[in-house]
Amino acid sequence: MSIHKNDLLLKALRGDTVERPPVWMMRQAGRYLPDYIRLREQYDFFTRCRTPELATAITLQPVDQVGVDAAIIFSDILVIPQAMGMEVLMEEGRGPLLPATIRTQADIDALISTGAEESLNYVLEALTLTKKELNGRVPLIGFAGAPWTILCYMVEGRGSKTWDRAKQFAYTEPALAHQLLDKITLITIDYLKAQVKAGADTVQVFDSWAGSLSPADFSRFAQPYLFRIAKALQPEAPVILFPKGSWYALKDISESAASGVGIDWCISPRVARELTGNKITLQGNFDPAKLLAPIPEIKRSVKEMIDEFGPQRYIVNLGHGITPNVPVDHARAFVDAVKEYSS
Ligand code: CP3
Repeated sequence: MSIHKNDLLLKALRGDTVERPPVWMMRQAGRYLPDYIRLREQYDFFTRCRTPELATAITLQPVDQVGVDAAIIFSDILVIPQAMGMEVLMEEGRGPLLPATIRTQADIDALISTGAEESLNYVLEALTLTKKELNGRVPLIGFAGAPWTILCYMVEGRGSKTWDRAKQFAYTEPALAHQLLDKITLITIDYLKAQVKAGADTVQVFDSWAGSLSPADFSRFAQPYLFRIAKALQPEAPVILFPKGSWYALKDISESAASGVGIDWCISPRVARELTGNKITLQGNFDPAKLLAPIPEIKRSVKEMIDEFGPQRYIVNLGHGITPNVPVDHARAFVDAVKEYSS
């Protein structure tokens, strides 16, 4: 294991006592930083992902410019459908598009579930380069999408508010859905293990659309696959699960192999603690839109949030990704409020 100058994140994940909680922001790399927006004019999205020097530069921007306590590698969850053989386009300003969606047994049979280490080698190179450039300043987070969320994009073909095509598929052809989820799980486990080998100190699994499911369907189509990933990775590195919206699963998650769980702003810190009984590190749950509030209001709300969670077994974060319209000084105020925290 490497020695970090700032290892607050890893301490919090282990449940060790910290002098203050660590802070990072989901989707901190890219989106709102002016240096990133300039790079976007020169290179298209997947070129930025596939060029290790660019991915590393983007990953370091929030560490250097905002002062977060962790770096998250610049990439995307949709590199997995690509590695499985699907075409994924990123339409600037409009989001992802997968022109050939998954519907049939033949579609699933054609998907590749091995070889992530070769097909996604560019992400591994970016991790190794970033690790070197960080030189131990802060830990490096790797990530992947959760099987349910990846299925959503594979079946729907694009973003959705309701994911009704993905859900229609799961409810009509559950056996096919489970085959697909299984294939995604296999390649995701290999991919995350390779990320750890390449330099990731911890990995986060984004189940961004878990909240589209009822508790019963979450326990069928999402939770078993999240737990398999956490169990497979646990011996290699701490795992953070982020099943957005699925607060009802917090007790079960606290008993899984995961070290941390991300929560959104629709659950109070007190209830989240009650459900998890301090058995897992909680991460979250600042409303991303509150970063648009005046700076004194941001600082007041951050202090109140830390008071409610308590500073131990806690990682300060947003309840979902930072939005593109957040002024940099507001993001910095969020981070500074954590660094200035004293109870
Ligand atoms: O945390 C980080 O900043 C690391 C990089 C990262 C990106 N995507 C870069 C990106 C991470 C962790 C992701 C995860 C991701 N990608 C998720 C899960 C997290 C979440 O917010 O729920 C999802 C659902 C995706 C799929 C995706 N990629 C969408 C829906 C979009 C378009 C709109 C958007 O969310 O920004 C993308 C494109 C994308 N991925 C951008 C960035 C910086 C914006 C496109 C651009 O800058 O040109």
